[in-house]
Amino acid sequence: MAMVATKTAATTKTVRRDNFLPANISLQVILLNRQTMEEKKEDSRKVVIELQNVKRYFKVGDETVKALRGVSFKIYEGEFVTIMGTSGSGKSTLLNQLGCLDTPTSGEYFLDGTPVRKMSKSQRAKLRNRKIGFVFQNYNLLPKTTAVENVELPLMYNKKYNAAQRREAAIKALQAVGLGDRLEHKSNQMSGGQMQRVAIARALVNDPAVVLADEATGNLDTRTSFEMLVLFQELYHQGRTIIFVTHNPDIAKYSSRNINLRDGKIREDVVNDNILSAADALASLPAPQDD
Ligand SMILES: Nc1ncnc2c1ncn2[C@@H]1O[C@H](COP(=O)(O)OP(=O)(O)OP(=O)(O)O)[C@@H](O)[C@H]1O
Ligand SMILES: [Mg+2]
Repeated sequence: MAMVATKTAATTKTVRRDNFLPANISLQVILLNRQTMEEKKEDSRKVVIELQNVKRYFKVGDETVKALRGVSFKIYEGEFVTIMGTSGSGKSTLLNQLGCLDTPTSGEYFLDGTPVRKMSKSQRAKLRNRKIGFVFQNYNLLPKTTAVENVELPLMYNKKYNAAQRREAAIKALQAVGLGDRLEHKSNQMSGGQMQRVAIARALVNDPAVVLADEATGNLDTRTSFEMLVLFQELYHQGRTIIFVTHNPDIAKYSSRNINLRDGKIREDVVNDNILSAADALASLPAPQDD
């Protein structure tokens, strides 16, 4: 409605100007108006992550390893971004920046609008706990601890939750990843896929601004990997913001955008207009052998 009103006002203004301005100037006004509207449309997406010329150098003896050599991008709310690149291209270093686990040598990082670089370690830890859900290749679950207890963990630092509310939130998160029937199973009593589901539930329980996954399908067989991708795509469809770091170029077919790193720089950053369905891919896999 507001858009229509603005448009009408703009048209009226242009028509009025037509009376006493040369035709080419009124055309410029229209073009300028259109440009501003397009910029507004672009701005209306919420930026969850912004990197500005982030560099990360490591001193090793007399040498300086330039792991990130000026990386800039914005990630918008609701994107499912894969980050790829060959071994040594800087993926883990980048993920450590995004996850507030490390500080850049130079450049700025804004997480959900908050500048991260000048924060103290404890401020960063708090921000990380509230804003980021991590999913790791090796699940990082507490051993011999039940699914519910593992998922409750990020809420321990959140004063808004008492014990009963923590448990309730954890059970809900586990049900959402299809583990409602494994609540009291311990980490060592579950399969890899189930453990990764627990890890995803743990990543989501705090309702983070972004989910960061590091090779989240790296330890899983093909079928289980696709099951995880189905889950990530469901989260994407629910509007979650996901960053998924991986070696596997096939995974980019299922994400909405792919950033490719090489030698610590962005080589390619492309939006995927043809996102394949992981559910379809899973359905077309040969049936598991039942012997
Ligand atoms: N703590 C460190 N100290 C020194 N050099 C480092 C450190 N961490 C990473 N590097 C170097 O930075 C570069 C990028 O490493 P990074 O771990 O980010 O690569 P990657 O893309 O994650 O590789 P992989 O796919 O093998 O995990 C490499 O050359 C690596 O040797
Ligand atoms: Mg790595």
